[in-house]
Amino acid sequence: MPGIIERYRQRLPFAHGDPVVSLGEGSTPLVLAPRLSERAGVEVWLKLEGANPTGSFKDRGMTCAVSAAVREGAEAIVCASTGNTAASAAAYAARAGLRGAVIVPEGKIATGKLAQALMHGARVIALRGNFDEALALVRELTARHPIALVNSVNDFRIEGQKTAAFEVLEALDGELDALCIPVGNAGNITAYWKGFKEAGVRPRLFGFQAAGAAPLVHGAPVEHPETVASAIRIGNPARWEEAMDAMTASGGAVASVTDAQILEAYRFLAAGEGIFCEPASAAGIAGLLAHGAGDARRIACVLTGHGLKDPQTALEHAGAVVPCAPELEAIERAVLG
Ligand code: F0G
Repeated sequence: MPGIIERYRQRLPFAHGDPVVSLGEGSTPLVLAPRLSERAGVEVWLKLEGANPTGSFKDRGMTCAVSAAVREGAEAIVCASTGNTAASAAAYAARAGLRGAVIVPEGKIATGKLAQALMHGARVIALRGNFDEALALVRELTARHPIALVNSVNDFRIEGQKTAAFEVLEALDGELDALCIPVGNAGNITAYWKGFKEAGVRPRLFGFQAAGAAPLVHGAPVEHPETVASAIRIGNPARWEEAMDAMTASGGAVASVTDAQILEAYRFLAAGEGIFCEPASAAGIAGLLAHGAGDARRIACVLTGHGLKDPQTALEHAGAVVPCAPELEAIERAVLG
């Protein structure tokens, strides 16, 4: 499959002949979740965005942001990140032959994401501060220096990410009542709403935040956001108003879920559906289970990132391995016992 720029060029701000930096992103699976559907009492489809080249939905936006940066003659890109944007930016910078720098909150990003950013050769800067502080600083930095900012405050990111809405609609023949999605910096929900509006449909958008990082629910920034879902540990979303507009205008809502609810949904999806997502992605499922999705009959939930991004959290919350001596009887006991 070609990447999203080639696939959706007519609906994206790229002309034929423009440089395209792509890793073949998009065209991710949309799978029916029978056990979750039964539990939630509605037909639930899962959009597996962890199947993108770097393991998260960010690649859809990054192919556009980095292609535009190349078109504009940029030599370097930068972002603040809770991890996935950093991994994606680093990969697309490598692909484009640009320098990449990523600013992450020290000690607060999942191991897989850190490994990715480093392997792709980005300069990884660990800020003694949180994501919101990192974003404020990179905005100032890029105002002073000719470096392209590839956070979702960059409109090309939204353009790329709206293509996920097109794919969901294509797979379901346009029949979708609601979308459940985790919300952090609020770029992705903004992008889905733009995509749905451009496609002429208006499913209800339900955004879910972690209880310890739920500024949209409280209606005020959270100074010290905290949650096991490190990807959405954000206290002052950049696309705040647009996200609220998406939920209000579509007849949806914003609500929060506790870390315990997130972890329960995380394990349920992995063990019950065979789908391993990262904790932040499970927030959308936890929200559906805790709050429902209005009177919707057919729902899509966006699983934003792959479970392998965060092996540490998985191992902390999964069952234990079974030790075994190298003997048949011991194996029998271990396997059958
Ligand atoms: N899920 C995952 C796995 C994420 O990485 C993010 C955001 C979100 C959900 C929320 O999306 O910010 O558009 O509302 N991660 C950003 C990052 C902030 O730096 O990787 P959003």
